[in-house]
Amino acid sequence: MDLSYILNHLGEDRETYHGAVSPPIYQTSNFAFPSVAAMRHALPHEQEVPFYTRGLNPTTGMLCKKLAALEGTDDALVFGSGIAAVSAAVISQLKAGDHVVCVQKPYGWAEKLFNQLLGRFGVAVTYVPAEDTVAIEAAILPHTRMLYLESPNSLTFELVDLEAVCAIAKPRGIVTVIDNSYATPLGQQPAKLGVDIVVHSASKYFGGHSDVIAGVVCSSKAIIKLIFDHEFMNLGGIVSPHTSSLLLRSLRTLPIRYERSTQSGMLVANYLHNHPKVKQLLYPGHPSHPQYALAQKQMGDCGGLFSILLDVHDATEVERFADKLKRFLLACSWGGHESLVLPACALAGSTTRLRPDLPWNLVRLYVGLEDPQVLIDDLEQALTDVK
Ligand SMILES: Cc1ncc(COP(=O)(O)O)c(C=O)c1O
Repeated sequence: MDLSYILNHLGEDRETYHGAVSPPIYQTSNFAFPSVAAMRHALPHEQEVPFYTRGLNPTTGMLCKKLAALEGTDDALVFGSGIAAVSAAVISQLKAGDHVVCVQKPYGWAEKLFNQLLGRFGVAVTYVPAEDTVAIEAAILPHTRMLYLESPNSLTFELVDLEAVCAIAKPRGIVTVIDNSYATPLGQQPAKLGVDIVVHSASKYFGGHSDVIAGVVCSSKAIIKLIFDHEFMNLGGIVSPHTSSLLLRSLRTLPIRYERSTQSGMLVANYLHNHPKVKQLLYPGHPSHPQYALAQKQMGDCGGLFSILLDVHDATEVERFADKLKRFLLACSWGGHESLVLPACALAGSTTRLRPDLPWNLVRLYVGLEDPQVLIDDLEQALTDVK
C-alpha cells in the first residue's frame, strides 16, 4: 500500500457520509441500534463496530487504520496521550514477578512507570546502554519478559540495533516494545525489523502543530485485541473524536513536514557541528554520530531533533545561550511547526523530570518549519558572546 493512498484514502468510507472529503467528527458517546438483535450482535464486536465511543468511534477508527498501515502492523489503538499508550502497552504484557530490560534514559514518565508504578506491583527493571547489544543480552534474566526500547533516545540519541536485539529476544519469548516517536514510521518501521509493539507520542510529528496530545500503539491483531479488552477499555485513556479529526488532518501533511524538518535539521546541525562553541553534536542523521552507519541501515530520514554539548565554562553560560534565542521557543516536546530549545539545566529544579544522568552542557534543539537561515542566524547571535 503506498503512502499517498494511506494518508489520503485508507479507512475513509466516504459513501457513508455523503462523500465529504474531510471525514466527519462523530461527536457522540453512544450509537443506537434498530433492534435488540442488532444490539446483541454488535456488543461482542466493540473493537470493530461502533457501540460506545470508549470502544470505537468512527473518526478514531479511520485514524487507527492509517496508523497501523503506516507502521506496517495489523492494527493500532489511539490513546489520550503518548504515555497512556506506553503504559497500556507495557502493562498488557507484564505480571507480578516479571523483569524488564530497559534502555538507559528512556522518556522520563516511562522510566517512572518502571521504577515506581510497576515497582509497586512487583515488576523489576534493569537499565542498559541502548547502543550496547552485548549488555542488553547480558542483562536478560530467566524471568525477563520485556525489552523496552527507545531508538533513537530522544535526549542523547543513542540507537538500539533493532534487528540484533529482536534476534536475541524472539527465541527467548521476550516481547519487544519500542517508543518510535522520534522517527515516525517515515523514518523507521520497527515492526519490519522484528519489534512486537510500536508506541508513539502522537503529540509530536503526527500532531505536528503543537495543539494535540495523543498516543498510539501498533501491533499484531492478537496483541491489539488483548490491549483493547483490558488496558484500553479498563483504564479508558481514550482520545476524543475531535482530537482524532485533528490528527487525520495532520497526517495528510506528515511527509512534507517531516521532510522539511529533516532538511532544515541537517542544515542547522551542520552549522552547529562546525561552530567552535559546540563541543559535540548528537544527531543520528549526521556522519559525526558514532552510530551513523546503524542509523543509515535501519532508519531513513532522521527528522529535526538533536542535541549539542556546548563548549562553555558552566551552566549559567548554557542558560544565557538559551535565554538569548529568539526564534527557538523555550519549551518541551517537538514535532510541531515551531523550533524549540530545551537545555538540560532547565530540568534541574524538578523532582519528576530531574535528569542527573544528562550532561550539564546538553541543549536539545528541535528544528521546525521556519526558514533554516533564520534559525542559523538566531543561533549565531546567541552563541556570539557565551564564554
Ligand atoms: C520520547 C517520548 N515518548 C513519549 C512521550 C509521551 O507523550 P505524551 O506527552 O503525548 O504523553 C514523550 C513526551 O514528551 C516523549 O518525548
